Amino acid sequence: MKALAYEKAHALDAFAIDLVEVDEPRLRDRDLLVEVHAIGINPGEAAIRRTRGAEPGGRVVLGWEFAGVVVEAGSVATGFAIGDRVLGTGDITRDGSWAERVAVDHRVVAKIPDRLAFTDAASLPVGVLTAWESLFRDEDTLLPGVGRVLVIGGAGGVGSMATQLLKATTPAFVISTASRPESRKWAAEMGADLVVDHRGDLAGQLRTAGIDHVDLVFSTAGTSGHLGAIVEVLRPFGHLAAVDLAGPFDTAAFTGKSLSLHSEMVFSKIVAGGDVASQGRILSRAADDVAAGLLRPIVTTTLDGLTAETMKTAHTLVESGRTIGKTVVRVTA
Ligand SMILES: NC(=O)c1ccc[n+]([C@@H]2O[C@H](COP(=O)([O-])OP(=O)(O)OC[C@H]3O[C@@H](n4cnc5c(N)ncnc54)[C@H](OP(=O)(O)O)[C@@H]3O)[C@@H](O)[C@H]2O)c1
Repeated sequence: MKALAYEKAHALDAFAIDLVEVDEPRLRDRDLLVEVHAIGINPGEAAIRRTRGAEPGGRVVLGWEFAGVVVEAGSVATGFAIGDRVLGTGDITRDGSWAERVAVDHRVVAKIPDRLAFTDAASLPVGVLTAWESLFRDEDTLLPGVGRVLVIGGAGGVGSMATQLLKATTPAFVISTASRPESRKWAAEMGADLVVDHRGDLAGQLRTAGIDHVDLVFSTAGTSGHLGAIVEVLRPFGHLAAVDLAGPFDTAAFTGKSLSLHSEMVFSKIVAGGDVASQGRILSRAADDVAAGLLRPIVTTTLDGLTAETMKTAHTLVESGRTIGKTVVRVTA
């Protein structure tokens, strides 16, 4: 089959992902083999392309957000049938879905409601799971005492789903951040009660709106740079949930307010263990909520074809740090 693959870690201006012939995925007992119809694009995949090369003689196939059709099932991959339309993520230690077919553990997969297009479905999985686990941890609701939430990066893929999930499933007051007219408009469309600018004084903008503190900050972008403002706006015993913590992170300022830090990595369960099937349940619930009109897909840009050119365009967009919603690649019409 064909897949988009590369060998050595590389920068965008030396883009070296090519469409190549690879072996068919080898199915494990828990796996579904899925024919890929659409792919969601994430900044994390561009980061891996920049930093992770293949083992000698090998190649890397990225992409852990897809929508497609089940064409084969492993012996204990229950709950799915050949022909089911599905969406899901994957396992970053295995080949991803930038390919004609992907083998994926059925526990991180959910069925797609009838009327939802593959491209719309592919915009959901990573944002839904990352936002859900960041906001609700391993429960299905906010921590006690959390009623006001600040979402930093409210127009991005994760922030868009976070705002929607909060408004659809909790009574929380949601403030989200965006810095440009078009991203502010989108953040408001996601349901934010108030939109403020992350390039300005966050605490000052909240005060102007009559808000003296928030209970939870969900930071999806530029967390290290916003740390002073985050500590300032959180109440004592408040919470910071962050998804972009890479490298040293100084929590010394947290102690004065007894703040808690919650990190999130969407692949923790599949890689490190735990209730992996909870991710399939979360995706299934989100898909039902989309069908019921409680959540909306977040695709804003659709690119066509499983080609190196398409993927280079997608990486260029995602590395800009200014995308709104989600870029999706349509693999088959
Ligand atoms: N840990 C995990 O499991 C996990 C999962 C998914 C993603 N992530 C990471 O989470 C981050 C966000 O992912 P995403 O898919 O939401 O990204 P994205 O869609 O590319 O985010 C784009 C948005 O980020 C905003 N932004 C850019 N710089 C910012 C800053 N300094 N402060 C606040 N907002 C800023 C922009 O808003 P404006 O244009 O309005 O400035 C833009 O709308 C990435 O670093 C990604 O790698 C982690």
